[in-house]
Amino acid sequence: MQIIAHRGASGLAPENTLKAMAVALELGVGAIELDVQWADGELWVFHDRRLERCTDGHGVLTGQSRDYLASLDAGQGERIPTLWQVMALVAGRCELHIELKGAGTAEPVAALTRRAEAELGFTPAHWVISSFHHPELAHFAGLRPDLRLGALTASLPLHGARFAEELGAWSLNCDVDFVDQTLVADAHRRGLKILVYTVDEVSDERALANMGVDGIFTNRPDRFS
Ligand code: G3P
Ligand code: MG
Repeated sequence: MQIIAHRGASGLAPENTLKAMAVALELGVGAIELDVQWADGELWVFHDRRLERCTDGHGVLTGQSRDYLASLDAGQGERIPTLWQVMALVAGRCELHIELKGAGTAEPVAALTRRAEAELGFTPAHWVISSFHHPELAHFAGLRPDLRLGALTASLPLHGARFAEELGAWSLNCDVDFVDQTLVADAHRRGLKILVYTVDEVSDERALANMGVDGIFTNRPDRFS
């Protein structure tokens, strides 16, 4: 069972911040998941469409300037990091699951992963690129066909893991509320891994392991080390 720190170690530090990434690294996780959005010519590591829940700012992230986003408090004095800042911190020490939040992210992420391979000690095997935005994921696949893709769903698809296979994905990433034995078996029959979010309880992780799930995204990686 692979343990993937969700938004960094987001149960222990403000989500998607450099501190959350540093805590996950200190715990020795094999992989970190983070969310990226594109605004004012930069990739920002941030989950929500709006700024209010996780910062002292206001409005929709994608409409903001670089200076404004860089000025916000993301909790405990942390800033909203750029993807490059996170890459520089991690520097090839674990895998990164980069979740593309919305259109416009595929091209800059493709470019930045190449740059990080050249400058920061990453290899293509360090990345899994995931998204609920399947057209953006398909676009990414055309830009970097050498990287693994995670096809996200927040529901139980009508045809099981078929959509993930059609995307050429490496994994089907699904919600803990919907995963069942049939979906796990269908994903495996198609040669896909199956990863489940968000799992913070050891008892849930044990049940998923018995179901054959390959990995979990957790806000509390300390509970599984
Ligand atoms: O990638 C797993 C999980 O992060 C997907 O949902 O909303 O937490 O980005 P969300
Ligand atoms: Mg995510």
